[in-house]
Amino acid sequence: MVTNRTFTMLKPDAVEKGHIGAILEKISVSGFRIVAMKLTQMTKHDAEAFYAIHKERPFFGELVEYMTRGPIVAAVLEKENAVEDFRTLIGATNPADAAEGTIRKLFANSISENAVHGSDSNDNAAIEGAFHFSGREMF
Ligand code: PPS
Repeated sequence: MVTNRTFTMLKPDAVEKGHIGAILEKISVSGFRIVAMKLTQMTKHDAEAFYAIHKERPFFGELVEYMTRGPIVAAVLEKENAVEDFRTLIGATNPADAAEGTIRKLFANSISENAVHGSDSNDNAAIEGAFHFSGREMF
């Protein structure tokens, strides 16, 4: 069911540092089922569209540059209460504020390179999943 799904990206810093396996393991043992996944790279156009809601924020240019500099892992995850539970699993936006054991605490260095994205609502999870995957790519 769509309301039990969330969308994530393992961001370029996490991929560059070789953390894909460790992060996917943490996601899996936390009870999320992967229903879609791929290694891909966003274009400038993609990132500007994906993050359009933040376009007036001072860090927008930096965010687009960071998110396009290398490959990401995009995935749709399924679990009861997926959006909220995944936001708990990844921790605060700024890893300095993230709880012990969260993905950002373990794998991120800074607020501007924070290793992982998680949708902030069921509506956005559906929009973001559809941004990266066709219906035929979701299982
Ligand atoms: S959130 O997660 O949406 O509640 O956080 P928010 O603070 O609104 O941030 C929106 C996205 O922008 C990223 N971000 C930043 N990037 C660069 N520099 C700074 N200072 C910064 N602050 C926030 C943040 O990681 C969010 O990206 P996503 O991909 O949604 O995690």
